[in-house]
Amino acid sequence: MSSDRTPLIAGNWKMHKSIAEAEEFIAALLPRVSDAEGVEVGICPPFLALQAMVHSTRGSRVQVFAQTMHQADHGAFTGEVAASMLTEIDVHGVILGHSERRELFGETDRALALKVPAALAAGLTPILCVGETEDERERGDTQRKLRHQVQEDLARLPDDRLGDVVIAYEPIWAIGTGQVATPEQAQEAIAFVRALVADRSREQAGRVRVLYGGSVKPDNAAELLALPDVDGALVGGASLDAASFAAIVAAAR
Ligand code: 13P
Repeated sequence: MSSDRTPLIAGNWKMHKSIAEAEEFIAALLPRVSDAEGVEVGICPPFLALQAMVHSTRGSRVQVFAQTMHQADHGAFTGEVAASMLTEIDVHGVILGHSERRELFGETDRALALKVPAALAAGLTPILCVGETEDERERGDTQRKLRHQVQEDLARLPDDRLGDVVIAYEPIWAIGTGQVATPEQAQEAIAFVRALVADRSREQAGRVRVLYGGSVKPDNAAELLALPDVDGALVGGASLDAASFAAIVAAAR
């Protein structure tokens, strides 16, 4: 990690936890991360638990993120949520382009190119997810995939806002599989993502935070977080338990 960039450890709960379970989790987490100086901590609950979590984290270091949003301000988009609806309840940011949204729910790079600026315009911090499939890695197409996603999804953002985005490199073959990227694979891909931002602005490439995601656990977090270009982690399964999530936060200090 670079000392210039504040690490972010965010827990993507996916479709887990009722409001009652979320309250139980946050009560256990807050005392465990209260002294995590110099680390930003985020949780990404399902929509229905967002407001309760904003309320229960007020005054703490824990930020609350949504898991997706629509690009439009409002309109006939059944089932969707707009950026302004998230900021109305003081949500801090939003995950965009998670591979599960892309693969299972048809989220496109074209939509993401609109969602990233819409989130920032509303005052939300976007966590844009990118990453290759196992097939793409085996074919030697990892960089091509990352280049395509980073260029397309950030295409409509002015250069001077690039550093306000958080990018999460999540190799799809490492998500929920227990098969974590090696430190060499993570560092190489994340340095490549940063270089793609540098193609547009060297200054913003020094600011942009790039996280690693995919089977991050308490026992592999320290090694990944020590890598020079890795600015934090987007954690799935291991973020559902307060003690294991707090152990990953501690590894970032
Ligand atoms: P796991 O940590 O469960 O592999 O999930 C990673 C992820 O998808 C975070 O967004």
